[in-house]
Amino acid sequence: MISMVGGVAAVDGNGKDAASYPAPTRPPPPLPMKPKLLRPLLLLAVLATGFLAVVALLLGGSTYSVLPRLSVPDALSVPSSRQRAAQQACAGGGGKSPLERWTRAPASAWHNMTDEELLWAASWRPRIGRYPFRRVPKVAFMFLTRGPLPLAPLWERFFAGADKELFSVYVHATPGYRHDFPPASPFYRRQVPSQVARWGDTSMCDAERRLLANALLDPGNERFVLVSESCVPLYAFPVVHHYLTRSHQSFVGAFDDPGPHGRGRYRAGLAPEVRREQWRKGAQWFELDRALAVDVVADERYYPKFRKHCRPPCYMDEHYLPTVLSVEAPGRIANRSVTWVDWSRGGAHPATFGEADVKEAFLKRLTTPGKDQGTCTYNGQPADVCFLFARKFAPSTLQPLLTLAPKMLGYG
Ligand SMILES: *[C@@H]1O[C@H](CO)[C@@H](O)[C@H](O)[C@H]1NC(C)=O
Ligand SMILES: *[C@@H]1O[C@H](CO)[C@@H](O)[C@H](O)[C@H]1NC(C)=O
Repeated sequence: MISMVGGVAAVDGNGKDAASYPAPTRPPPPLPMKPKLLRPLLLLAVLATGFLAVVALLLGGSTYSVLPRLSVPDALSVPSSRQRAAQQACAGGGGKSPLERWTRAPASAWHNMTDEELLWAASWRPRIGRYPFRRVPKVAFMFLTRGPLPLAPLWERFFAGADKELFSVYVHATPGYRHDFPPASPFYRRQVPSQVARWGDTSMCDAERRLLANALLDPGNERFVLVSESCVPLYAFPVVHHYLTRSHQSFVGAFDDPGPHGRGRYRAGLAPEVRREQWRKGAQWFELDRALAVDVVADERYYPKFRKHCRPPCYMDEHYLPTVLSVEAPGRIANRSVTWVDWSRGGAHPATFGEADVKEAFLKRLTTPGKDQGTCTYNGQPADVCFLFARKFAPSTLQPLLTLAPKMLGYG
């Protein structure tokens, strides 16, 4: 009886495949036949195939595995041993339900899906907005890195102040790079399958979307923040979680720059989807809510056009999200980032801070309203806290940060 439950579910998808695939793979008839003869023969073949499929299904579970498999993403599918356990629990009357598939995080961040499969799996969205179960919104921290995470010890202290139910970690590194974190670390086995991502190149946006898609596979993730290996959190975890999960808007920097580095990078090929006056610019370090994150991974309208037309000196990672979200969802983004950078030194790149920079006074400035925190609004009200993260911090800043974090940043 129990195996029938699994059988019926499998038949629905696989049975269809079995009936439709054999016809084309049948060897062609050896001799040319008259169409009149061909039709009854084809009918017979279809009937025979159907009969064989039914026989195969009746023979039992082991037969299904030889039938073509539906490519259910393994992060979403329940491993077979666990599935059996769940079904037994169901039969016993007190167990897990099929709903679990939509409520539970995949066990590991790693998988073997292609990008195409991944984006598809991540693009699902429930059309009923209310969750019929207890769901605590999580913040997904998505680390876009080249390889090492020199500030990981600082982040580990930051996460040590968090309930494990409230966050998840994803790391995108150069392909082939393997992180070696101990099981107790929040970075343990959180690497996702990656591709080379070059700064300024469209591959950088692909990597951002890949991170988003991986994080979307956990149905508990509600807010998605992109950080780099040189980012540091400026406040304790509860402050960050509260700030992001209570915000009515996502934090994506977007402004209209009329100059050569703004509208000057607009490409006529992007019309009519995007007109020149709709062109926006912003730093790549975004924060998105779940609804917008799904929109981004599912975007087949703007993304291919940007990939084709926005090539250097048009930098996709500075224009794609700000522009598309300003066109499609202007009321749902705050037009500002929650990641602070120092552009005051001028030039094409923001300042990088070294060991000598990290002093009490500097961290105080970063966290004081009206100083480097600047002025901003939050849910329509003037706010004291505008930035939750700051960059760019060199590896040498780790020691002074670890020392000063408990007093100046509220964690560690
Ligand atoms: C992916 O992994 C599953 C097992 O986890 C395996 O059955 C399947 O063949 C793999 N697919 C590819 C394309 O490697
Ligand atoms: C963000 O900018 C858009 C125009 O691109 C505007 O419609 C929207 O009101 C702005 N949002 C905020 C929070 O200022």
